[in-house]
Amino acid sequence: MFMLKVENLHVSVSDKEILHGVSLNLEKGELHVVMGPNGSGKSTLALTIAGHPKYTVTEGRILFEGEDITEAKPEERAKKGIFLSFQHPVEVEGVKVINFLQRVLKNLRGIDEVEAYDMIFKAVEELGLDESILTRFLNVGFSGGERKKLEMLQAYLVRPKLLILDEPDSGVDVDSLKVIASIINRLHEEGTSILLITHYGRILEYLKPNRVHVLKEGRLVKSGGVELVRIIEEKGFAAVEEL
Ligand SMILES: Nc1ncnc2c1ncn2[C@@H]1O[C@H](COP(=O)(O)OP(=O)(O)OP(=O)(O)O)[C@@H](O)[C@H]1O
Ligand SMILES: [Mg+2]
Repeated sequence: MFMLKVENLHVSVSDKEILHGVSLNLEKGELHVVMGPNGSGKSTLALTIAGHPKYTVTEGRILFEGEDITEAKPEERAKKGIFLSFQHPVEVEGVKVINFLQRVLKNLRGIDEVEAYDMIFKAVEELGLDESILTRFLNVGFSGGERKKLEMLQAYLVRPKLLILDEPDSGVDVDSLKVIASIINRLHEEGTSILLITHYGRILEYLKPNRVHVLKEGRLVKSGGVELVRIIEEKGFAAVEEL
């Protein structure tokens, strides 16, 4: 069964078309990777699937578990089980991470505050994260790596059906990369379907992607196995197009 089906997706931002007919099928439990040059439309694809209001679908559609969600609000999509981790997370002064996570668990999983509190501390321990992160204000003064880890903690707690990760590996050190990859692995092994956007093959050394897609100038120019990653790293994007 398809978890996500993207059909001939055309997406515009302020009247400029950015995606020119992208199609992609992700089966339940699969991990797909999207690679592509800067500005090729990777984040646009991720944000459009999550329902960001800035991105207008002008043609094509998005099906989630067989249901057309092209016009659904972002909150509805989140409730259905779609979780997007952003390339650039927002800072929120005055909201502590622990309280934010409690609210997320309440909204998306109906878990009460007290139970959520225990769950969150347990998850932090399970994932080998630093507990002090929980009492800080949301993303305020967080280093790049800390932000990414917090996003992964959130994803781990939410247990989405479809997890979309936009460069979870950008700007993180080797040790943090391993932590992030292990959380992705755990979710993948537990059956979460994952769409992972990355620039680097490094994170893929720890993961087992089912498929790799290459996006260029708003079009998917190639789909294949992990072997594409090596070719991209060694010879660049143009080389995979010629295959
Ligand atoms: N909100 C927006 N307003 C204006 N232009 C946008 C917006 N979002 C995306 N674009 C444009 O769409 C194109 C694709 O951007 P997108 O962020 O999807 O690329 P990307 O593949 O994620 O790049 P990167 O690898 O640098 O993250 C770019 O030319 C970008 O400037
Ligand atoms: Mg991007």
